[in-house]
Amino acid sequence: MSLYPSVLFVLLVTMAAAETLRPGFYAQTCPEAEAIVRYEMMKAMIREPRSVASVMRFQFHDCFVNGCDASLLLDDTPNMLGEKLALSNINSLRSFEVVYEVKEALEKACPGIVSCADIIIMAARDAVALAGGPDWVVRLGRKDSLTASQEDSDNIMPSPRANATSLIDLFTKFNLSVKDLVALSGSHSIGEARCFSIMFRLYNQSGSGKPDPAIEPGFREKLDKLCPLGGDENVTGDLDATPKLFDNQYFKDLVAGRGFLNSDQTLFTFPQTREYVKLFSKDENEFFKAFVEGMLKMGELQSGKGGEIRTNCRVVNSQALDV
Ligand code: HEM
Repeated sequence: MSLYPSVLFVLLVTMAAAETLRPGFYAQTCPEAEAIVRYEMMKAMIREPRSVASVMRFQFHDCFVNGCDASLLLDDTPNMLGEKLALSNINSLRSFEVVYEVKEALEKACPGIVSCADIIIMAARDAVALAGGPDWVVRLGRKDSLTASQEDSDNIMPSPRANATSLIDLFTKFNLSVKDLVALSGSHSIGEARCFSIMFRLYNQSGSGKPDPAIEPGFREKLDKLCPLGGDENVTGDLDATPKLFDNQYFKDLVAGRGFLNSDQTLFTFPQTREYVKLFSKDENEFFKAFVEGMLKMGELQSGKGGEIRTNCRVVNSQALDV
């Protein structure tokens, strides 16, 4: 009973600090904002097709760690270990320069207006649309964080070894359903992953000394050639058979035992997620609809801590002034 007022107080403070997101947030203050992001993403895609997949991944790695606040983009400082070198990100996240270019273009058009957190959300949407997937209206108005946490990223972000049960548990913590999990995993319809992420599954699944039995034998042969034991683990393979096209091929591949990551294939192995994999493999529209819903829900995650509009996505404003 005596706890009640303080709990209420914390709730109210959290609600007050969370930004109210809405479509067209920059319509008055920076009317060209969304067109500028789309244009810069298109340029990036022409320069290097994979880069848009790499940028799209930022939404997941940013939003799951203390909300969508661009904490992911902060460089390490003497007092703060940032998220760029966290376990799931080091030697893996790439194409940060694309976001910096978008920010530069936006700062030229309307200085100090568009947050880096919103850039990630717009750029992720644009990546999907430019790769042939659905297009949707995003809600904007996020603030950029004043800190980042490598430790939180290490504790939260899932491993490629994860199975469906642990992924369901993780997504549930963020109010994301089993359907959201399967649909959002469909982001692996574009992009690539390193051999590093699948060596265990090819040669020592769950300590068995054997490959994951869920891999279709022909596909396993192909992966063994791409990623031989003792080979260069930075070599990359395609996450599905059409890695530049955002489509439902990823789900067809899972049904055929041709998922790249363990965390992908497990969605077909486990009964709780299998029906959605089957549904999306047969009906691309259902996949697109569920994917958009999942991206919107993930984009709503906020820490409630408040923040600022960074002028440089890599540093907080107080430090940018010191330089
Ligand atoms: C469900 C849990 C997930 C796990 C365990 C996971 C894990 C991974 C791993 C291990 C890689 C390859 C990293 C490397 O080898 O360097 C990867 C790539 C990728 N992930 Fe995920 N991921 C998950 C969900 C998501 C979500 C929700 C999104 C976005 C909405 C996403 C977008 C991507 C993209 C686009 C790539 C390819 C990036 C590139 O080509 O640079 N992933 N993911």
